[in-house]
Amino acid sequence: MLTQDEKYMKECFKLALKGRGKVAPNPLVGCVVLDKFGKVISKGYHHKYGDNHAERDALLKLKNNEAEGGTLYVNLEPCSHFGKTPPCTDLIIERKLKRVVIGMKDVNPKVDGLTKLKRAGIEVTTGILEKEAEFLNRVFIKNMKDKLPYVVLKTATTIDGKISTSTGDSKWITSEESRKEVYKMRKDFDCIMTSSNTVIADNPKMEHRGKCILDTNSRIPKDAQIFKQGEVYIATKDNTPLKKGKLDIKYVLSELYKKGIYTVFVECGGTLAGAMLRENLIDEVYQFIAPKILNDNKGKSCFDGDSLKKISSAKNLKLYSSKIVGTDILLKYKVL
Ligand SMILES: NC(=O)c1ccc[n+]([C@@H]2O[C@H](COP(=O)([O-])OP(=O)(O)OC[C@H]3O[C@@H](n4cnc5c(N)ncnc54)[C@H](OP(=O)(O)O)[C@@H]3O)[C@@H](O)[C@H]2O)c1
Repeated sequence: MLTQDEKYMKECFKLALKGRGKVAPNPLVGCVVLDKFGKVISKGYHHKYGDNHAERDALLKLKNNEAEGGTLYVNLEPCSHFGKTPPCTDLIIERKLKRVVIGMKDVNPKVDGLTKLKRAGIEVTTGILEKEAEFLNRVFIKNMKDKLPYVVLKTATTIDGKISTSTGDSKWITSEESRKEVYKMRKDFDCIMTSSNTVIADNPKMEHRGKCILDTNSRIPKDAQIFKQGEVYIATKDNTPLKKGKLDIKYVLSELYKKGIYTVFVECGGTLAGAMLRENLIDEVYQFIAPKILNDNKGKSCFDGDSLKKISSAKNLKLYSSKIVGTDILLKYKVL
């Protein structure tokens, strides 16, 4: 059973999601305003980058004194600094709200709305459904804290975790419906990342506006299909530092971030996937599992790695979504 605060916080999450795909690099934020009698009088959300923040969106729909003595719910701490818009805290104080309920504190060091609101005598409650609030804004948190894009690795495997036979045959493991689902998924990301090996083996089109290929020794043929559309950034040993003899992938990701790439969708084989996992560069894994068992010891695994002695050394992930796609299953995991 949800408390009243939790109920309105969930409403904020729903409103916030309306801005999905349009607000980056800003966070997803929704807001609900109650009058002094506890009746919902306004709702708002951050529509797109540069637009009003959710609190301003909700409050500006009301007359000057309508919210006086009321409660404002918002999933992220209100801003207290001048950015593209003036501070939301100023408007909240001006409109004489009595109470402000917040999902999570902002990770942006410029923001200290809590102190400003408290100093103005407003009652502030924080941490309502905090874990959910953090999950909702996981991309924003990663971008802000690490100055790196949020990375999702997609892999399509058999039940025994294989992505190709020992002869390298990999077409097709999953159903046509799953492949169509991947085309749709790509649209949610700013860039697709892949490798020389995958481009050489599959010659994929990977239709997308932004692509990045890790190709240490510039091995990819100039007429590869991947170049036919969109902008392609190629990381080679000439423009990227090496780490233990391999391209420094974190450096590549930070360069992409500087170019305004906030989310990356990685489609590669086990070598690169394993390397990125070991370096803690993967935030989520989307795994399509086909109802097939390869039973081929030399078949390629979705994450190549070293030998480990203990299960306790395994990477832990949290499954947060599962659905059937065609004849396959799609599992979405957050790396912990
Ligand atoms: N089932 C699936 O979801 C899926 C998706 C994509 C691909 N595939 C299959 O995967 C197979 C290719 O797998 P793969 O394991 O050979 O290749 P891969 O994992 O796609 O790429 C490995 C290559 O990436 C390059 N690379 C650059 N920097 C690296 C770094 N820091 N660490 C590791 N690699 C780095 C290296 O090539 P350079 O030295 O040339 O830079 C390396 O050989 C293909 O058969 C393809 O069909 C399957």
